[in-house]
Amino acid sequence: MCRVLSVAVAPKARRHGIGTRMMQAAEAVCRERGLSTIRLEVSTKNLVAIEFYRRLGYRTDGVLYGYYSWGEDAYSMHKTIVPTTSSPGAPPLTASSHPT
Ligand SMILES: CC(C)(COP(=O)(O)OP(=O)(O)OC[C@H]1O[C@@H](n2cnc3c(N)ncnc32)[C@H](O)[C@@H]1OP(=O)(O)O)[C@@H](O)C(=O)NCCC(=O)NCCS
Repeated sequence: MCRVLSVAVAPKARRHGIGTRMMQAAEAVCRERGLSTIRLEVSTKNLVAIEFYRRLGYRTDGVLYGYYSWGEDAYSMHKTIVPTTSSPGAPPLTASSHPT
């Protein structure tokens, strides 16, 4: 399982497909590592990010109440991908080091 912890694009550069390309790059690494599921969490208040992930094929599978340290709830989302290798076991992949 691959987990995306944080994705962000500079405000002036948004809506030009950069976020999509970053997620596609992360998914490509997951495929190469033989991983079939990508998971992430997103604030229930972050409607832009929710729409962004939904458009990329991520689906909500639960609500994590009080997930963030400041008390906000999060949706748990996932996407199933087809691995390009059958040799799982590579080190965990994270796109960043802190939750958003
Ligand atoms: C979410 C984020 C990474 C998207 O990056 P981006 O480079 O702007 O995304 P893209 O240009 O690839 O957008 C892909 C699609 O997502 C959706 N989307 C992106 N921004 C949107 C917005 N402001 N309103 C509605 N839909 C939006 C659209 O469907 C868009 O396709 P379109 O432009 O053809 O309509 C960016 O808005 C961001 O950095 N937000 C702040 C950080 C954040 O919330 N990160 C996620 C935390 S889990």
